[in-house]
Amino acid sequence: MNKQTEEFMSIKNPQTLSAWTEVGKPHPHESAILHVTGEATYTDDIVELQGTLHAALGLSTKAHAKMRAIDLSKVKASAGVVAVYTADDIPGENQCGAIIKDDPVLADGLVQYVGQPIFVVVADSHDNARRAARQAVIDYEELPSILTPRAAHEAESYVLPPMHLSRGNPAEAFDKAPHKLKGQFDVGGQEQFYLEGQISYAIPKEGRGMHVYCSTQHPSEMQHHIAHVLHVASHDVLVECRRMGGGFGGKESQSALWACAAAVAAVRLRRPVKLRADRDDDMIVTGKRHCFAYDYEIGYDDNGRIVAAKIDMISRAGFSADLSGPVATRAVCHFDNAYYLSDVEIHAMCGKTNTQSNTAFRGFGGPQGAIAIEYIIDEIARNLGKDALEVRRANFYGSSDATGPDARNVTHYGQHVEDNVIQALVSELERTSEYQERRKAINTFNAENTILKRGLALTPVKFGISFNVPHLNQAGSLVHVYTDGSVLVNHGGTEMGQGLNTKVAQVVANALGLPLDQVRCTATDTSKIANTSATAASTGSDLNGKAAQDAALQIRARLAQVAAERFNTDVSEVRFADGMVTTGAQSVTFEELVMQAYLKRVQLWSDGFYSTPKVHWNSKTMNGHPFFYFAYGAAVAEVVIDTLTGEWRLIRADSLYDAGESLNPAIDVGQVEGGFIQGMGWLTTEELWWNKDGKLMTHAPSTYKIPAVSDCPTDFRTHLFKNSNVSDTIHRSKATGEPPLLLPFSVFLAIRDAVSAVGEHHINPPLRAPATSEAILDAIDAVKAAVAVQ
Ligand code: MTE
Ligand code: HPA
Repeated sequence: MNKQTEEFMSIKNPQTLSAWTEVGKPHPHESAILHVTGEATYTDDIVELQGTLHAALGLSTKAHAKMRAIDLSKVKASAGVVAVYTADDIPGENQCGAIIKDDPVLADGLVQYVGQPIFVVVADSHDNARRAARQAVIDYEELPSILTPRAAHEAESYVLPPMHLSRGNPAEAFDKAPHKLKGQFDVGGQEQFYLEGQISYAIPKEGRGMHVYCSTQHPSEMQHHIAHVLHVASHDVLVECRRMGGGFGGKESQSALWACAAAVAAVRLRRPVKLRADRDDDMIVTGKRHCFAYDYEIGYDDNGRIVAAKIDMISRAGFSADLSGPVATRAVCHFDNAYYLSDVEIHAMCGKTNTQSNTAFRGFGGPQGAIAIEYIIDEIARNLGKDALEVRRANFYGSSDATGPDARNVTHYGQHVEDNVIQALVSELERTSEYQERRKAINTFNAENTILKRGLALTPVKFGISFNVPHLNQAGSLVHVYTDGSVLVNHGGTEMGQGLNTKVAQVVANALGLPLDQVRCTATDTSKIANTSATAASTGSDLNGKAAQDAALQIRARLAQVAAERFNTDVSEVRFADGMVTTGAQSVTFEELVMQAYLKRVQLWSDGFYSTPKVHWNSKTMNGHPFFYFAYGAAVAEVVIDTLTGEWRLIRADSLYDAGESLNPAIDVGQVEGGFIQGMGWLTTEELWWNKDGKLMTHAPSTYKIPAVSDCPTDFRTHLFKNSNVSDTIHRSKATGEPPLLLPFSVFLAIRDAVSAVGEHHINPPLRAPATSEAILDAIDAVKAAVAVQ
């Protein structure tokens, strides 16, 4: 930043310099019209270059085996086949592990799950490539396999060393606790089910150049992997992504395999190669949300306040580490959810299993950490005969009777909770959702009905925002102002439907005092912004919004200087609003001022950078300040279940979410609703099922049930909580990408409440997640059996 820019920016907070606000408005998604007209270009829509070939992957049919011999003669002889490549054909490193190098692009000698890619076949059409891929004859020597997290734990088979976090003296606190409970709980994994599958289109360029169009949340990581696999430098590789048809975490690290395989084939053949995964292959090959198994011991007092908590969390990491380490860390850091835990001990294990390598999925371990404590609180309430809301309140951070040096406001990992709004938010939702009145009505309904039972639950959310790996919290941008006054923005974030480009464009329009339609975001491109982080951890608009604002404000400062000279006034008097630049009674259009600046040889483009302050983390002690701030929310769900069939319906859902000063309330409400329904799918209908040989049998929508429109409640109320971020985020907004996925804990616990009504709330139903109809019936049977022996 030069001196003149610095001076301008120090005059006042430039954000408040004008009353112009393009932020905070419910603008439609920048691609909304393109989405609905079908004009939006996804990777597979890019017009193919002449000579383009199509690739498919040959997959392992064994969960764990040595490959004694691979016979690819029939593959090579198959119609339309141009070439077949194995690990031996990779020019550089056969590796695409996100953090640890334990993830080969193509299996070499050993296969570790059913679906692991072994070879790439390239043909003249997508169908010919897929048909040929099935012709391989592989001689396997089978090895014992481990499929579940509990089996992995028993065998002490982990992808990473176990993690431990403790505070206080949980053993002593547990011994002294007035009440105790011990239990187990299991929660399933979840397929990301992005509508656009994994895809990469690799185009060799002159020299060592490689241009890869890739559907990815992490273009920079793809660039680095491709460079290593091809044995070239990063500057030889350009990765570009205009948009994804959804990512949901599944394209944070696991787009690498597809990008690398396409690039290897393209470099070998010197022809463009497209690798597009068919839905079944996509589901069989790629990792999903980690399923978790928990063993817990809890001590609590007469009010339901937790005085000691000990928990083991075992995740199904799959065959390699991928992002399982940071996922487990986030699970550990979200076991508290919105509750203060004085004496706590957590052990987290990433079980190595012969299944797909599990990866990021919206929430990234946060939901898996927090659901455990919500399940536990639900049990405490039932044991004490109290409403669960009362027990939740007794445990909230900074409860009204808080005493002691930390005022019940320091997390178990040592971060002070400085922005707690959970009490106020929950009270507002309790009132607006008519929670107490409906609780009474449900009790009456259940007393009068034996077959249908209703259930109600209110669950809170506190979610830490920032990457839990501190150095990832940085972003860059490039803003161009052209001489006609139009503005082009590039930043390191990727658009996957969440509205990031709309929000960033709003921020830039706001900074330059322009209407939104004068600003456009371009495709993410590694040759424009270097070394970017994944668009993940809900940080997209926080990081890239700030970086783009930084660039725009530098341009604005230069333009303000030109305007001040023109109007013979001080730069502090210059205002940018509504496409005009004014001072007192004098004004000029933005376009005219830009042209004047150009003629004066003033730089009309700028880069911008942002790094999140305050965040730090010690991964050995599991202590620090990993999150810049917390986002809060709560939801109330009411369900009805049929105790004969296990079928259920969500009757009404009320969500209240803290988006701070929302950058775009329309997009944010959409994110809350979408997150709610996606989380509901995870906890109810979406069941992943592997057969005894380790083959995933639920690998298409025919067997894997994501929520449909008809599963949305007819009464679906979503509101944003009035709040302003106490941390200096972009326009004091808060993230909305991931935290709403935790709101439908309320649906799961409302189902549990309805099942519990079968035993008149005396028995804790052993309901597993997902609460499929079978799981509901199993829980009902268990409640009835327990009642019978009472
Ligand atoms: N919304 C849509 N429509 N599609 C997506 O793939 N991904 C989610 C969430 N919402 C996703 C989405 C995930 S995993 C993240 S981390 C955030 O969006 C990223 O959004 P941000 O740019 O606001 O941080
Ligand atoms: N969220 C998502 N992706 C990540 C994170 C996180 O917290 N940390 C590292 N990669």
